[in-house]
Amino acid sequence: MSELAQRGRNRAAVVTGASRGIGRAIVKRLAAEGYHVVANDIERQHEEMEKLRAEVEASGGRCDIAYADVSNPDDVASLAEYALARCGTIDVLVNNAGVLSVHKVEDIEPDEWDRMYDVNTKGTFMVTKALLGHFRQRKAGRIINIASIGGKRGGVGQAHYCSSKAAVISFTHILAMEVGLDGITVNAVCPGIIDTDMGRNNYRDEESLKKVIEKTTLGRLGYPEDVVGSVAFFASDDASFITGQALNVCGGIIFH
Ligand SMILES: NC(=O)c1ccc[n+]([C@@H]2O[C@H](COP(=O)([O-])OP(=O)(O)OC[C@H]3O[C@@H](n4cnc5c(N)ncnc54)[C@H](O)[C@@H]3O)[C@@H](O)[C@H]2O)c1
Repeated sequence: MSELAQRGRNRAAVVTGASRGIGRAIVKRLAAEGYHVVANDIERQHEEMEKLRAEVEASGGRCDIAYADVSNPDDVASLAEYALARCGTIDVLVNNAGVLSVHKVEDIEPDEWDRMYDVNTKGTFMVTKALLGHFRQRKAGRIINIASIGGKRGGVGQAHYCSSKAAVISFTHILAMEVGLDGITVNAVCPGIIDTDMGRNNYRDEESLKKVIEKTTLGRLGYPEDVVGSVAFFASDDASFITGQALNVCGGIIFH
């Protein structure tokens, strides 16, 4: 067995928003490292989720599926209960589920504002809270929040999304301070523009794709597989002295 495939042996991870894009790639990477993964998404995504499970199992990994809307408190309680029942212990939580829409401030309806915060911010908080007692009891745990460079720099037409992600970064800092003495680390990954259903909102034609690429130092778009290494790293023993950080994985669009 390769060294990589050993890293997650006897470890379990919960990944939210796993049916496609970055979450899907995270599940596949952690499963390839030997983690028993509980992959979450909303029930509507069941076809994609079944495909994901089949792909993970075909390559020798373990993947359970937990349908839950991370913005619904009852669903979140069931998700945590199911994950603990399936895995016994959980080592890693990746809060990846997210939603984006694009509107100038005067066109954002209050309900749409709430939707961004309910999924991106409150969802991250609620899933974390549901597993925090378990992590504290074990005096171990890795919490990895998928934020965004938008949470640091912002983006026109995304005030609701970017501010919800800025809140995720702030939550990451504060939670890290609260739980450090219990051996739990909390970090955020801040992707740049990544080629997913969500990411494509940033480039709807060749011209805007060219502009996006020009913003990067590395001269290319990011892909979900570009993001997973940072998540695997924060989950690994190599990152045991790193907490409260928000790492940009953006091909050099921003530097702080
Ligand atoms: N793609 C990008 O350019 C980019 C950039 C920065 C940050 N991000 C962040 O990365 C994460 C993943 O984004 P992506 O690009 O893969 O997006 P995506 O839209 O391709 O995937 C998001 C996933 O979250 C799921 N989801 C949505 N609402 C949910 C809910 N209430 N409960 C459970 N699951 C839910 C969706 O069904 C989907 O599977 C998000 O948090 C996003 O904000 C993405």
